[in-house]
Amino acid sequence: MLTKARPPKAARGRTKAVRHFLDLDQFEPATLRRIVDMAHAMKRAGRRVPKEYRPKNIDDAILVMIFEKPSTRTRLSFDIAMRQLGGQPIALNHSDLQTGRGEPVSDTAKVLSRYADAIMLRSNSHATLLEYATHATIPVVNGLTDFSHPCQIVADIVTFEESKGPIKGRKISWVGDGNNVAVSWMHAAVKFGFTLNLACPPQLNPEKSVMDWVRREGGDVTLTDDADAAVKGSDCVVTDTWVSMGQTDAPRRKQLLGPYAVDDALMKRAAKDAVFMHCLPAYRGHEVSASVIDGPQSVVFDEAENRLHAQKAILAWCLGV
Ligand code: CP
Ligand code: NVA
Repeated sequence: MLTKARPPKAARGRTKAVRHFLDLDQFEPATLRRIVDMAHAMKRAGRRVPKEYRPKNIDDAILVMIFEKPSTRTRLSFDIAMRQLGGQPIALNHSDLQTGRGEPVSDTAKVLSRYADAIMLRSNSHATLLEYATHATIPVVNGLTDFSHPCQIVADIVTFEESKGPIKGRKISWVGDGNNVAVSWMHAAVKFGFTLNLACPPQLNPEKSVMDWVRREGGDVTLTDDADAAVKGSDCVVTDTWVSMGQTDAPRRKQLLGPYAVDDALMKRAAKDAVFMHCLPAYRGHEVSASVIDGPQSVVFDEAENRLHAQKAILAWCLGV
């Protein structure tokens, strides 16, 4: 007699809504707070994940990671995070997959949902991420798109809080390109209740729809072209590369962003004990001087380390913790 086939992984024990991690603006503040607190706890616990934060059935869980763009930190921190949680990662470049030859994302998302337990995607277009999330029956995590980089900001908040205490009510300045990382900072300012002053050249302001959303939500986010004014009295100064992955107008961007370089003079406008953050990779002598990024106020390597602790918390949440 035939035995009944085992249901696909995606169907096993999953009756609740799929926990995608797509963008911070879609979360209840309490859920994000819990993920950040879990990341702090993961860090305190080192490599041994506390029992209460280990997802059920993690021992046979698989994370599939797909990269349409290069990555050092996101790739390694998710890989190691999944192993430390007790599961297994599989990393693929987009060109390894049939999507590179035109197979629909919708079919790919359905197929991966039959093999794995979560998908982490770094995509050129945010629309691709949303398409994966629409068709996958397992959690999809945003590992950076042209629009946003939410996992980075979870790590950044952990980093801020471990050096300066709770982020609620504090003042953060973003100086430079109004890019994907800036958008996730804007989402976070609303959800965690801190002030965010952005200084960008007007041609490179963040997408208008994001500022419109901030205003509707009553967030404390300002936008200026004056870096000195934005940084004044801040607890933290953040910047990022002038040319993000996939951007082709480097000479124009460098010209527009020249006045927004973070140097010692700009850091002096911030609070005396302010920290400097940068998601990395950084280009010394462009968006930040070597004296700042390698100086005493810089916490960039704590920030990079905290990607690991943050990814463990994000994956744990996606997998039901
Ligand atoms: N900060 C960050 O996402 O780095 P990678 O591009 O190396 O993943
Ligand atoms: N804004 C940068 C972030 C890199 C982690 C980019 O998209 O290339």
